[in-house]
Amino acid sequence: MPWGLLIDWAELLVRWTHVIAGIAWIGSSFYFIALDASLKAHPRLDARVKGEAWQVHGGGFYQMQKFTVAPDYLPDELTWFKWEAYSTWIFGFALLVLVYYLHPSVYLIDPAVLNLSPYDAVAGGIASLVAGWLIYDLLCKSWIGQDTRRLALVGFVLLVAVTFGYTHVYSGRGAFIHVGALVGSIMVGNVFFLIIPNQRIVVRDLLAGRVPDPALGNAAKQRSLHNNYLTLPVVFVMLSNHYAFTYATRWSWLVLAAVFIATFLVRHWFNAKHTGARPDWRLWPAAAVPMALAALLTVLGQPRAAAGSGPVSFAEVQHIVGQRCAVCHAARPSFDGISEAPKGILLDTPRRIAALAPQIYQQAVVTRVMPLNNLTGITEQERAQLAQWVNAGAPTQ
Ligand code: HEC
Repeated sequence: MPWGLLIDWAELLVRWTHVIAGIAWIGSSFYFIALDASLKAHPRLDARVKGEAWQVHGGGFYQMQKFTVAPDYLPDELTWFKWEAYSTWIFGFALLVLVYYLHPSVYLIDPAVLNLSPYDAVAGGIASLVAGWLIYDLLCKSWIGQDTRRLALVGFVLLVAVTFGYTHVYSGRGAFIHVGALVGSIMVGNVFFLIIPNQRIVVRDLLAGRVPDPALGNAAKQRSLHNNYLTLPVVFVMLSNHYAFTYATRWSWLVLAAVFIATFLVRHWFNAKHTGARPDWRLWPAAAVPMALAALLTVLGQPRAAAGSGPVSFAEVQHIVGQRCAVCHAARPSFDGISEAPKGILLDTPRRIAALAPQIYQQAVVTRVMPLNNLTGITEQERAQLAQWVNAGAPTQ
């Protein structure tokens, strides 16, 4: 079996597992935040029970009660929710390595942004994830973290600053994946370094009949609230990697900033709704404004197509595509690190080139994400020639 195909299989299996683990994690996060918000106190309940929620699912009824003090009886088997988070991160990091870090010059480095060496690109990426977590953790523990609104504001400004920084170091796509990886790492760091250790201490105290230090629970709650607000943006960033128009714009960092705001508002609406209060419907139109702004920014920030002159022959187009694209987009690509035609796009025969004229235009002229990081050195004039050919109706004579 060719080596490249094996790597592709590994990538598919790791991505699959990463997404499934992520669904389980985010699903349980949504579930527990909603459950906690829906608990209702009742005089009938044990004095140690904070509240109760009745739920129906799978043909039966669930009577959920939350003890804030240890109950008389605890079974040996207590279900902890942590492996969903850990495995999302482990497989996500493996995917980052397989897609980006194994061949940084393909996806990560764009010499037009910054001419990084492969080593610097990878080492810098990993270092930024570690530093990002440490700064966030310090921020939460500092005086800034003592006020939720103040922390949210400072955190948001820092997140946008980091996004700006990444887009000035990596390719558009490499920048976005690092924003996603950083936010995801912060979320898992919250579970691993804070929420679970604090919970262990609280459980031990409760079982020993001691009153747990409320600071432990408060810190864990603060972090799980952060995670809750970060779920929607992190998934957006991950998906945006597959939509070049989101990152192939001069304003890509502002696009993400606008999307962050929109997703925070939407999350806020859901959290309010789950407490049983009447949620504020104005949050939806309020979220639509930054979302529309994000769409507008992708249009305004699009690179401008160069203008050319004179008609372009199909032979010239074939020559350009053959030189600049077909090294990757062929049945047997010759480009190092590319084992099969990416996304099944073949640009190796005249007929296929003609049939894919709109796609060529979109990728090489409008978003300009192709040739990938301009690894094959297409010139402005060649882009203009491709544009003219497509605008003239993509003639094949
Ligand atoms: C160095 C290798 C490489 C070169 C050179 C290259 N591409 Fe690509 N192309 C890729 C990869 C990798 C993808 C898949 C990107 C992804 O997964 O989103 C891709 C995807 C595409 C797609 C599909 C986009 C989509 O999202 O559906 C088109 C169309 C395309 N390339 C056209 C071109 C054209 C036109 C050229 C030449 C001007 C070109 N490519 C040069 C690697 C390359």
